[in-house]
Amino acid sequence: ALVNTKEMFKKAYDGGYAIGAFNINDMEIIQGIMSACAELKAPVILQVSSSARKYAHPAYLVKMVEAAVKENPDIPVALHLDHGPSFEMCKACIDDGFTSVMFDGSAKPYEENVEEARRVVEYAHKYNVTVEAELGKLAGVEDDVKVEDDKAQFTDPDEVQDFVTRTGVDSLAIAIGTSHGAYKFKPGQKPKLRLDILEEVSNRLPGFPIVLHGASSVLPEFVQMVNQYGGQMPDAIGIPEEMLREAAAKAVCKINVDSDLRLAMTATVRKYFAENPSHFDPRQYLGAARDAIQGLVEHKIKTVLGCEGKA
Ligand code: G3H
Ligand code: 13P
Ligand code: NA
Ligand code: ZN
Repeated sequence: ALVNTKEMFKKAYDGGYAIGAFNINDMEIIQGIMSACAELKAPVILQVSSSARKYAHPAYLVKMVEAAVKENPDIPVALHLDHGPSFEMCKACIDDGFTSVMFDGSAKPYEENVEEARRVVEYAHKYNVTVEAELGKLAGVEDDVKVEDDKAQFTDPDEVQDFVTRTGVDSLAIAIGTSHGAYKFKPGQKPKLRLDILEEVSNRLPGFPIVLHGASSVLPEFVQMVNQYGGQMPDAIGIPEEMLREAAAKAVCKINVDSDLRLAMTATVRKYFAENPSHFDPRQYLGAARDAIQGLVEHKIKTVLGCEGKA
C-alpha cells in the first residue's frame, strides 16, 4: 500500500534497522527495486528528485509508482520528494499524491530553513504527508546546491532540538561525513563517518528518526565493471557497508541510495553492449539493467538496511 513514512520509521527505529530510499527516474528502476522488495518482503521509499520530476515529466513517475503499488499490495511504499528546494515544489508534489516530502533548506541561513520547513509541515500534515528536513551541509554535489569538500559542515547537535520542535518535521537528515555522488573520499583517504555526532544527535532527540543522504557504497565490483567495459571512473569510492549497517542499527531510519543504482545500471549496460554488439532492442539491455538493480537492492536490504521481512 502507498503510505507515509510515520509507521515505517517507528518500526525501523524500534527494530534497529533502516528503510532504503531509492531514487527513481524510469520504469526499469522502479520495477527492479520493487521486485527486490517483493522477494524479501521489505518496506521501501521510492524517491523523486526535482530533476527526476523534470526528466520524466511530473505525472509519469507518480503513475508508475501507483502501478507498482497495485502489483505489490502487501509492500508498504512511500512516494517521497527528494531535496525539495522550496515550499512550492513540496506543495506541488503533495497535491500530486506524494506521501512524503523533503524540504531541503540546508544551504539557507538557519532561521530561513526553520521558517520554510515549518510552512511545509503545516501544509503537509493537513494531508497526512510526512516531512523530512536537513541540518548541516554534505560535501560534494547536492542537486543544484554545491558544497566544497573542505567546507563540509557537520550537523551541530546543539541545533537539532530547537529545529525539530519549531518546525514539527517528522525526520531529520544530518551531515556526518557522507556526500552525494560516486567520489566520496579521495584515493588513499580513509573513509570515515562521524558516528559520534549521530550519537549526540540521537541523545538530544530520543526516538526521532534520522536520515542519511549520500549513502551509496559505490560497490567496487560495479566500478570495476564500468572500467573494464570502456568507462572511465577511476577512484570512485563510497561509504563502507559496515559503517552504514552500524548507523542503521542506531537512530538512522532512512538510507538514501542513488549512485549505486546508476552504477549498477551503467555497468550492466556497458557489459551487455560489449558482449552483444549486434543487439539493438532496448528491452534486452534495459532488462539486464533492471535485473542488476533488483540484485543490488536485495544486497542492500540484506547487508546494509536489515529490513528483510519487515513489510
Ligand atoms: O541527491 C541527489 C540525488 O542523487 C538525485 O540526483 O538531482 O541528479 O536526480 P538528481
Ligand atoms: P548517493 O549519491 O550516495 O547515492 O546519495 C543519494 C542521495 O542522497 C539522494 O538524496
Ligand atoms: Na535504525
Ligand atoms: Zn540526498
